[in-house]
Amino acid sequence: MEKLPYSFNDNSREISFNRFDLPSPWINYLSNGRMHAFVSQAAGGMAWWLSPMLFRVTRYRFFNLPIDSPGFYVYIRMEDGTVWSPAFRPCDTEVDRRTASHHPGYSVFEAEKDGLKTTLKLYMAQDVDAMIWEVKVANLKGETVNCNVFAYVELSQFLAQQENILGYYLKWNTRAVFEESLQAITYAYTAWMHPRKEDSPMVYFASDVKTDSWCCNRDTFCGNYRDERNPAEVEKGVLSNTELHGGEPCGALHNHLSIESGKTKTIHYFLGVTQGALEDYDRVIRETAETLKLLRRNGYPQEQFEKLQNWWNAHLDVFQCEIPDEDAQREINIWNPLQSVHTARLSRSISSDASGVRGIGFRDTAQDMLAQAYRKPEWAKEMLMYLASQQLEDGHSVHTSWPEDRRPAQDITRSDDHIWMVYLAYAIAAETGDLSFLDEEIPYLNKDLVTPGEKASLWQHLLKGMEFTENHLGEHDLPLILFSDWNDHLGPFGRKGKGESIMVSQQYIYALKQLAEMAELRNDEEHVRLFIDYIQKQENALEKYAWDGEWFLRGLDDDANPVGSHNDEHARIWLNAQSWMVISGACKNRQIQAMDSAARELDTGMGLLLNTPGYPGWPSKEAAMVNGLPAGYSENGGVFCQANCWAIMAEALLGRGDIAWKYYQQLIPDNVIKKIGVEKYHGEAYAYCSTLLGKDNPEFGRACVSQVTGTAAWMDVVSTQYLLGIRPTLKGILIDPSIPSSWDGFNVIREYRGHTLRVRVHNPEHVQHGIVRLSINGVQADIRNGAYIPEELLGKNDVCVVDAEMGLPTADRN
Ligand code: GLC
Repeated sequence: MEKLPYSFNDNSREISFNRFDLPSPWINYLSNGRMHAFVSQAAGGMAWWLSPMLFRVTRYRFFNLPIDSPGFYVYIRMEDGTVWSPAFRPCDTEVDRRTASHHPGYSVFEAEKDGLKTTLKLYMAQDVDAMIWEVKVANLKGETVNCNVFAYVELSQFLAQQENILGYYLKWNTRAVFEESLQAITYAYTAWMHPRKEDSPMVYFASDVKTDSWCCNRDTFCGNYRDERNPAEVEKGVLSNTELHGGEPCGALHNHLSIESGKTKTIHYFLGVTQGALEDYDRVIRETAETLKLLRRNGYPQEQFEKLQNWWNAHLDVFQCEIPDEDAQREINIWNPLQSVHTARLSRSISSDASGVRGIGFRDTAQDMLAQAYRKPEWAKEMLMYLASQQLEDGHSVHTSWPEDRRPAQDITRSDDHIWMVYLAYAIAAETGDLSFLDEEIPYLNKDLVTPGEKASLWQHLLKGMEFTENHLGEHDLPLILFSDWNDHLGPFGRKGKGESIMVSQQYIYALKQLAEMAELRNDEEHVRLFIDYIQKQENALEKYAWDGEWFLRGLDDDANPVGSHNDEHARIWLNAQSWMVISGACKNRQIQAMDSAARELDTGMGLLLNTPGYPGWPSKEAAMVNGLPAGYSENGGVFCQANCWAIMAEALLGRGDIAWKYYQQLIPDNVIKKIGVEKYHGEAYAYCSTLLGKDNPEFGRACVSQVTGTAAWMDVVSTQYLLGIRPTLKGILIDPSIPSSWDGFNVIREYRGHTLRVRVHNPEHVQHGIVRLSINGVQADIRNGAYIPEELLGKNDVCVVDAEMGLPTADRN
């Protein structure tokens, strides 16, 4: 086994690197919710403000060589002319020792050379829209050391798409100067065609020590035919104080340091923005002066750093487990909820793989927020309301929108988008016990896809969605697939308008059940009855048409032919149709056989394939069924990680803890890496990717599209609520674990409606599922209708001890 280039430290919630030339950038996100950046293990990365489409602050060369550049670069130039850096980039110079580490919300890079130790810590200020670079230079040499420190960042033309297409022309609309009064480089992109020109910011790059020299022109800084790895001005040891009035902007700041033996010098750099540079320049200068005064105040960066850490600690501490599986515990306690926050903030838009143009995916964000519903229900609610405002009056919703960019949403009618809202509403209600938000009014989106239309309560919005589905059933009473369902590439079988989706039917049932529960609490008997009728209709249709003999079909095509049947040469079985049948609760007596077929046909030992066998890729014409995707990639025989979450959930619901955990463990990235190695896996060891190439591809196991994937939220929800089984419901919190039979038990600390629950699950009989006794603070709960924790037993106690005992139900004992 090759030595891994990283190691985890779970106590300090970090991953540290001992090698840096990884097959792809392994990134961390830094954010305060408005200003964001990602940064790799090599200090490559990019910063943006509000929207990576509109206000891109720095550049990043997506897809292009040199990989993972530019970034947030610091150079140390010694008196003999040697130049090195605290991070692996920008300089290749060999150092005596180097580490880097990612932590929730910040990254640290450290290197030592010839008795000098430098540390670069990157994080986002929480109260100000500025990225803080803390540079420490420690002299361990035994004599005074003189050196020059340079901080460098390449600036961007804000409008990502235009810059790509017209940047050669628009670069004359850039201005960067050293503003003496601020002691800062200031930069503005002066094109008045910016769609939000009133907000178009001024960027500043400054430090809290006196600047010795500076440069605003990238090409001058680097020199002819050079780049940021060997910039001419750093080589010289001093910057040229060059302004930029059109061209390629950068921020480069220089400080000369003389450090006595045993002493450390610290410089803070601030890369920030002030809103409205094109509208009122003088105000922006005044405001920036105020902000810089704050940032430069002794102790302020540290206060901001502590605030950031407190935010993350509080967020992660909502759910912490102690389980007999170190890898899973690390995932559940640290890295998975961390990634869930990133996807909640960024949807599918931006990572080192994704160039930041995708905006908010409707179904994507509705699912991402499921992982916030139990940690930050207010945030989840805010996003749900936003999503509802992107629903049209006929009940369907747009597919993608760009809330910051004020451009029309994209509306290609999918059969599933609107349904995902129901699960989010249910999850929020279940966490808080408060259903009043369902009555809050929110406008529909007008057909122009920009302006708000008539208002209606959120409840009405949800009902409208169901009506839309009910009005779009096909000949067999199953929902029409329309442009596509959750499987974006599965639309082609319904292009004539008649193809029906079995997955949407299953999703519809699950949503209707949740709505019926909510309607009951709202004393809305009429809707309870209506939903029961709708459910019945779907269940009948599934009983009649969905079974293929050993598994469930995925749909019926335009000519009523089965999709995903044993008769098909390719894609003869689809995972989602099996797992979602369990989730929907329909066709009960065939669920186990279907999940066993999925295990037999689809499990690769590194995740379950979404379907199999894949269609051969080009030049074969057959792959048209999945829009020509290459064999083994994504929805053509790939391991789609998000779909694996539903298989885990289904097995957990079936009470088959052993297999549910096997599926869970085998997809933990670190475990895949331990099997096939970093080079083959490619992706981060601490973040899920969207898909792994499947068996039909020669690069089986390679991670594709890392970080921004629905896998994050679903793994989070599935592991905490279905595997460990601490599940919020409208009847209260349910304790319903599905665990490996080998476990003696486990512990969870969970914040819940103002209480801290200390849950201790005991498994003396080594079962996989089933609670036989439950007590809260020593008082036995009645569990005849499920192991719910009744709110009255929590009382006014801050801390409640919950003891749950697993075992065989009396009926199963002989
Ligand atoms: C991607 C899309 C998501 C879609 C899935 C399957 O993850 O972001 O919306 O459901 O692929 O096609």
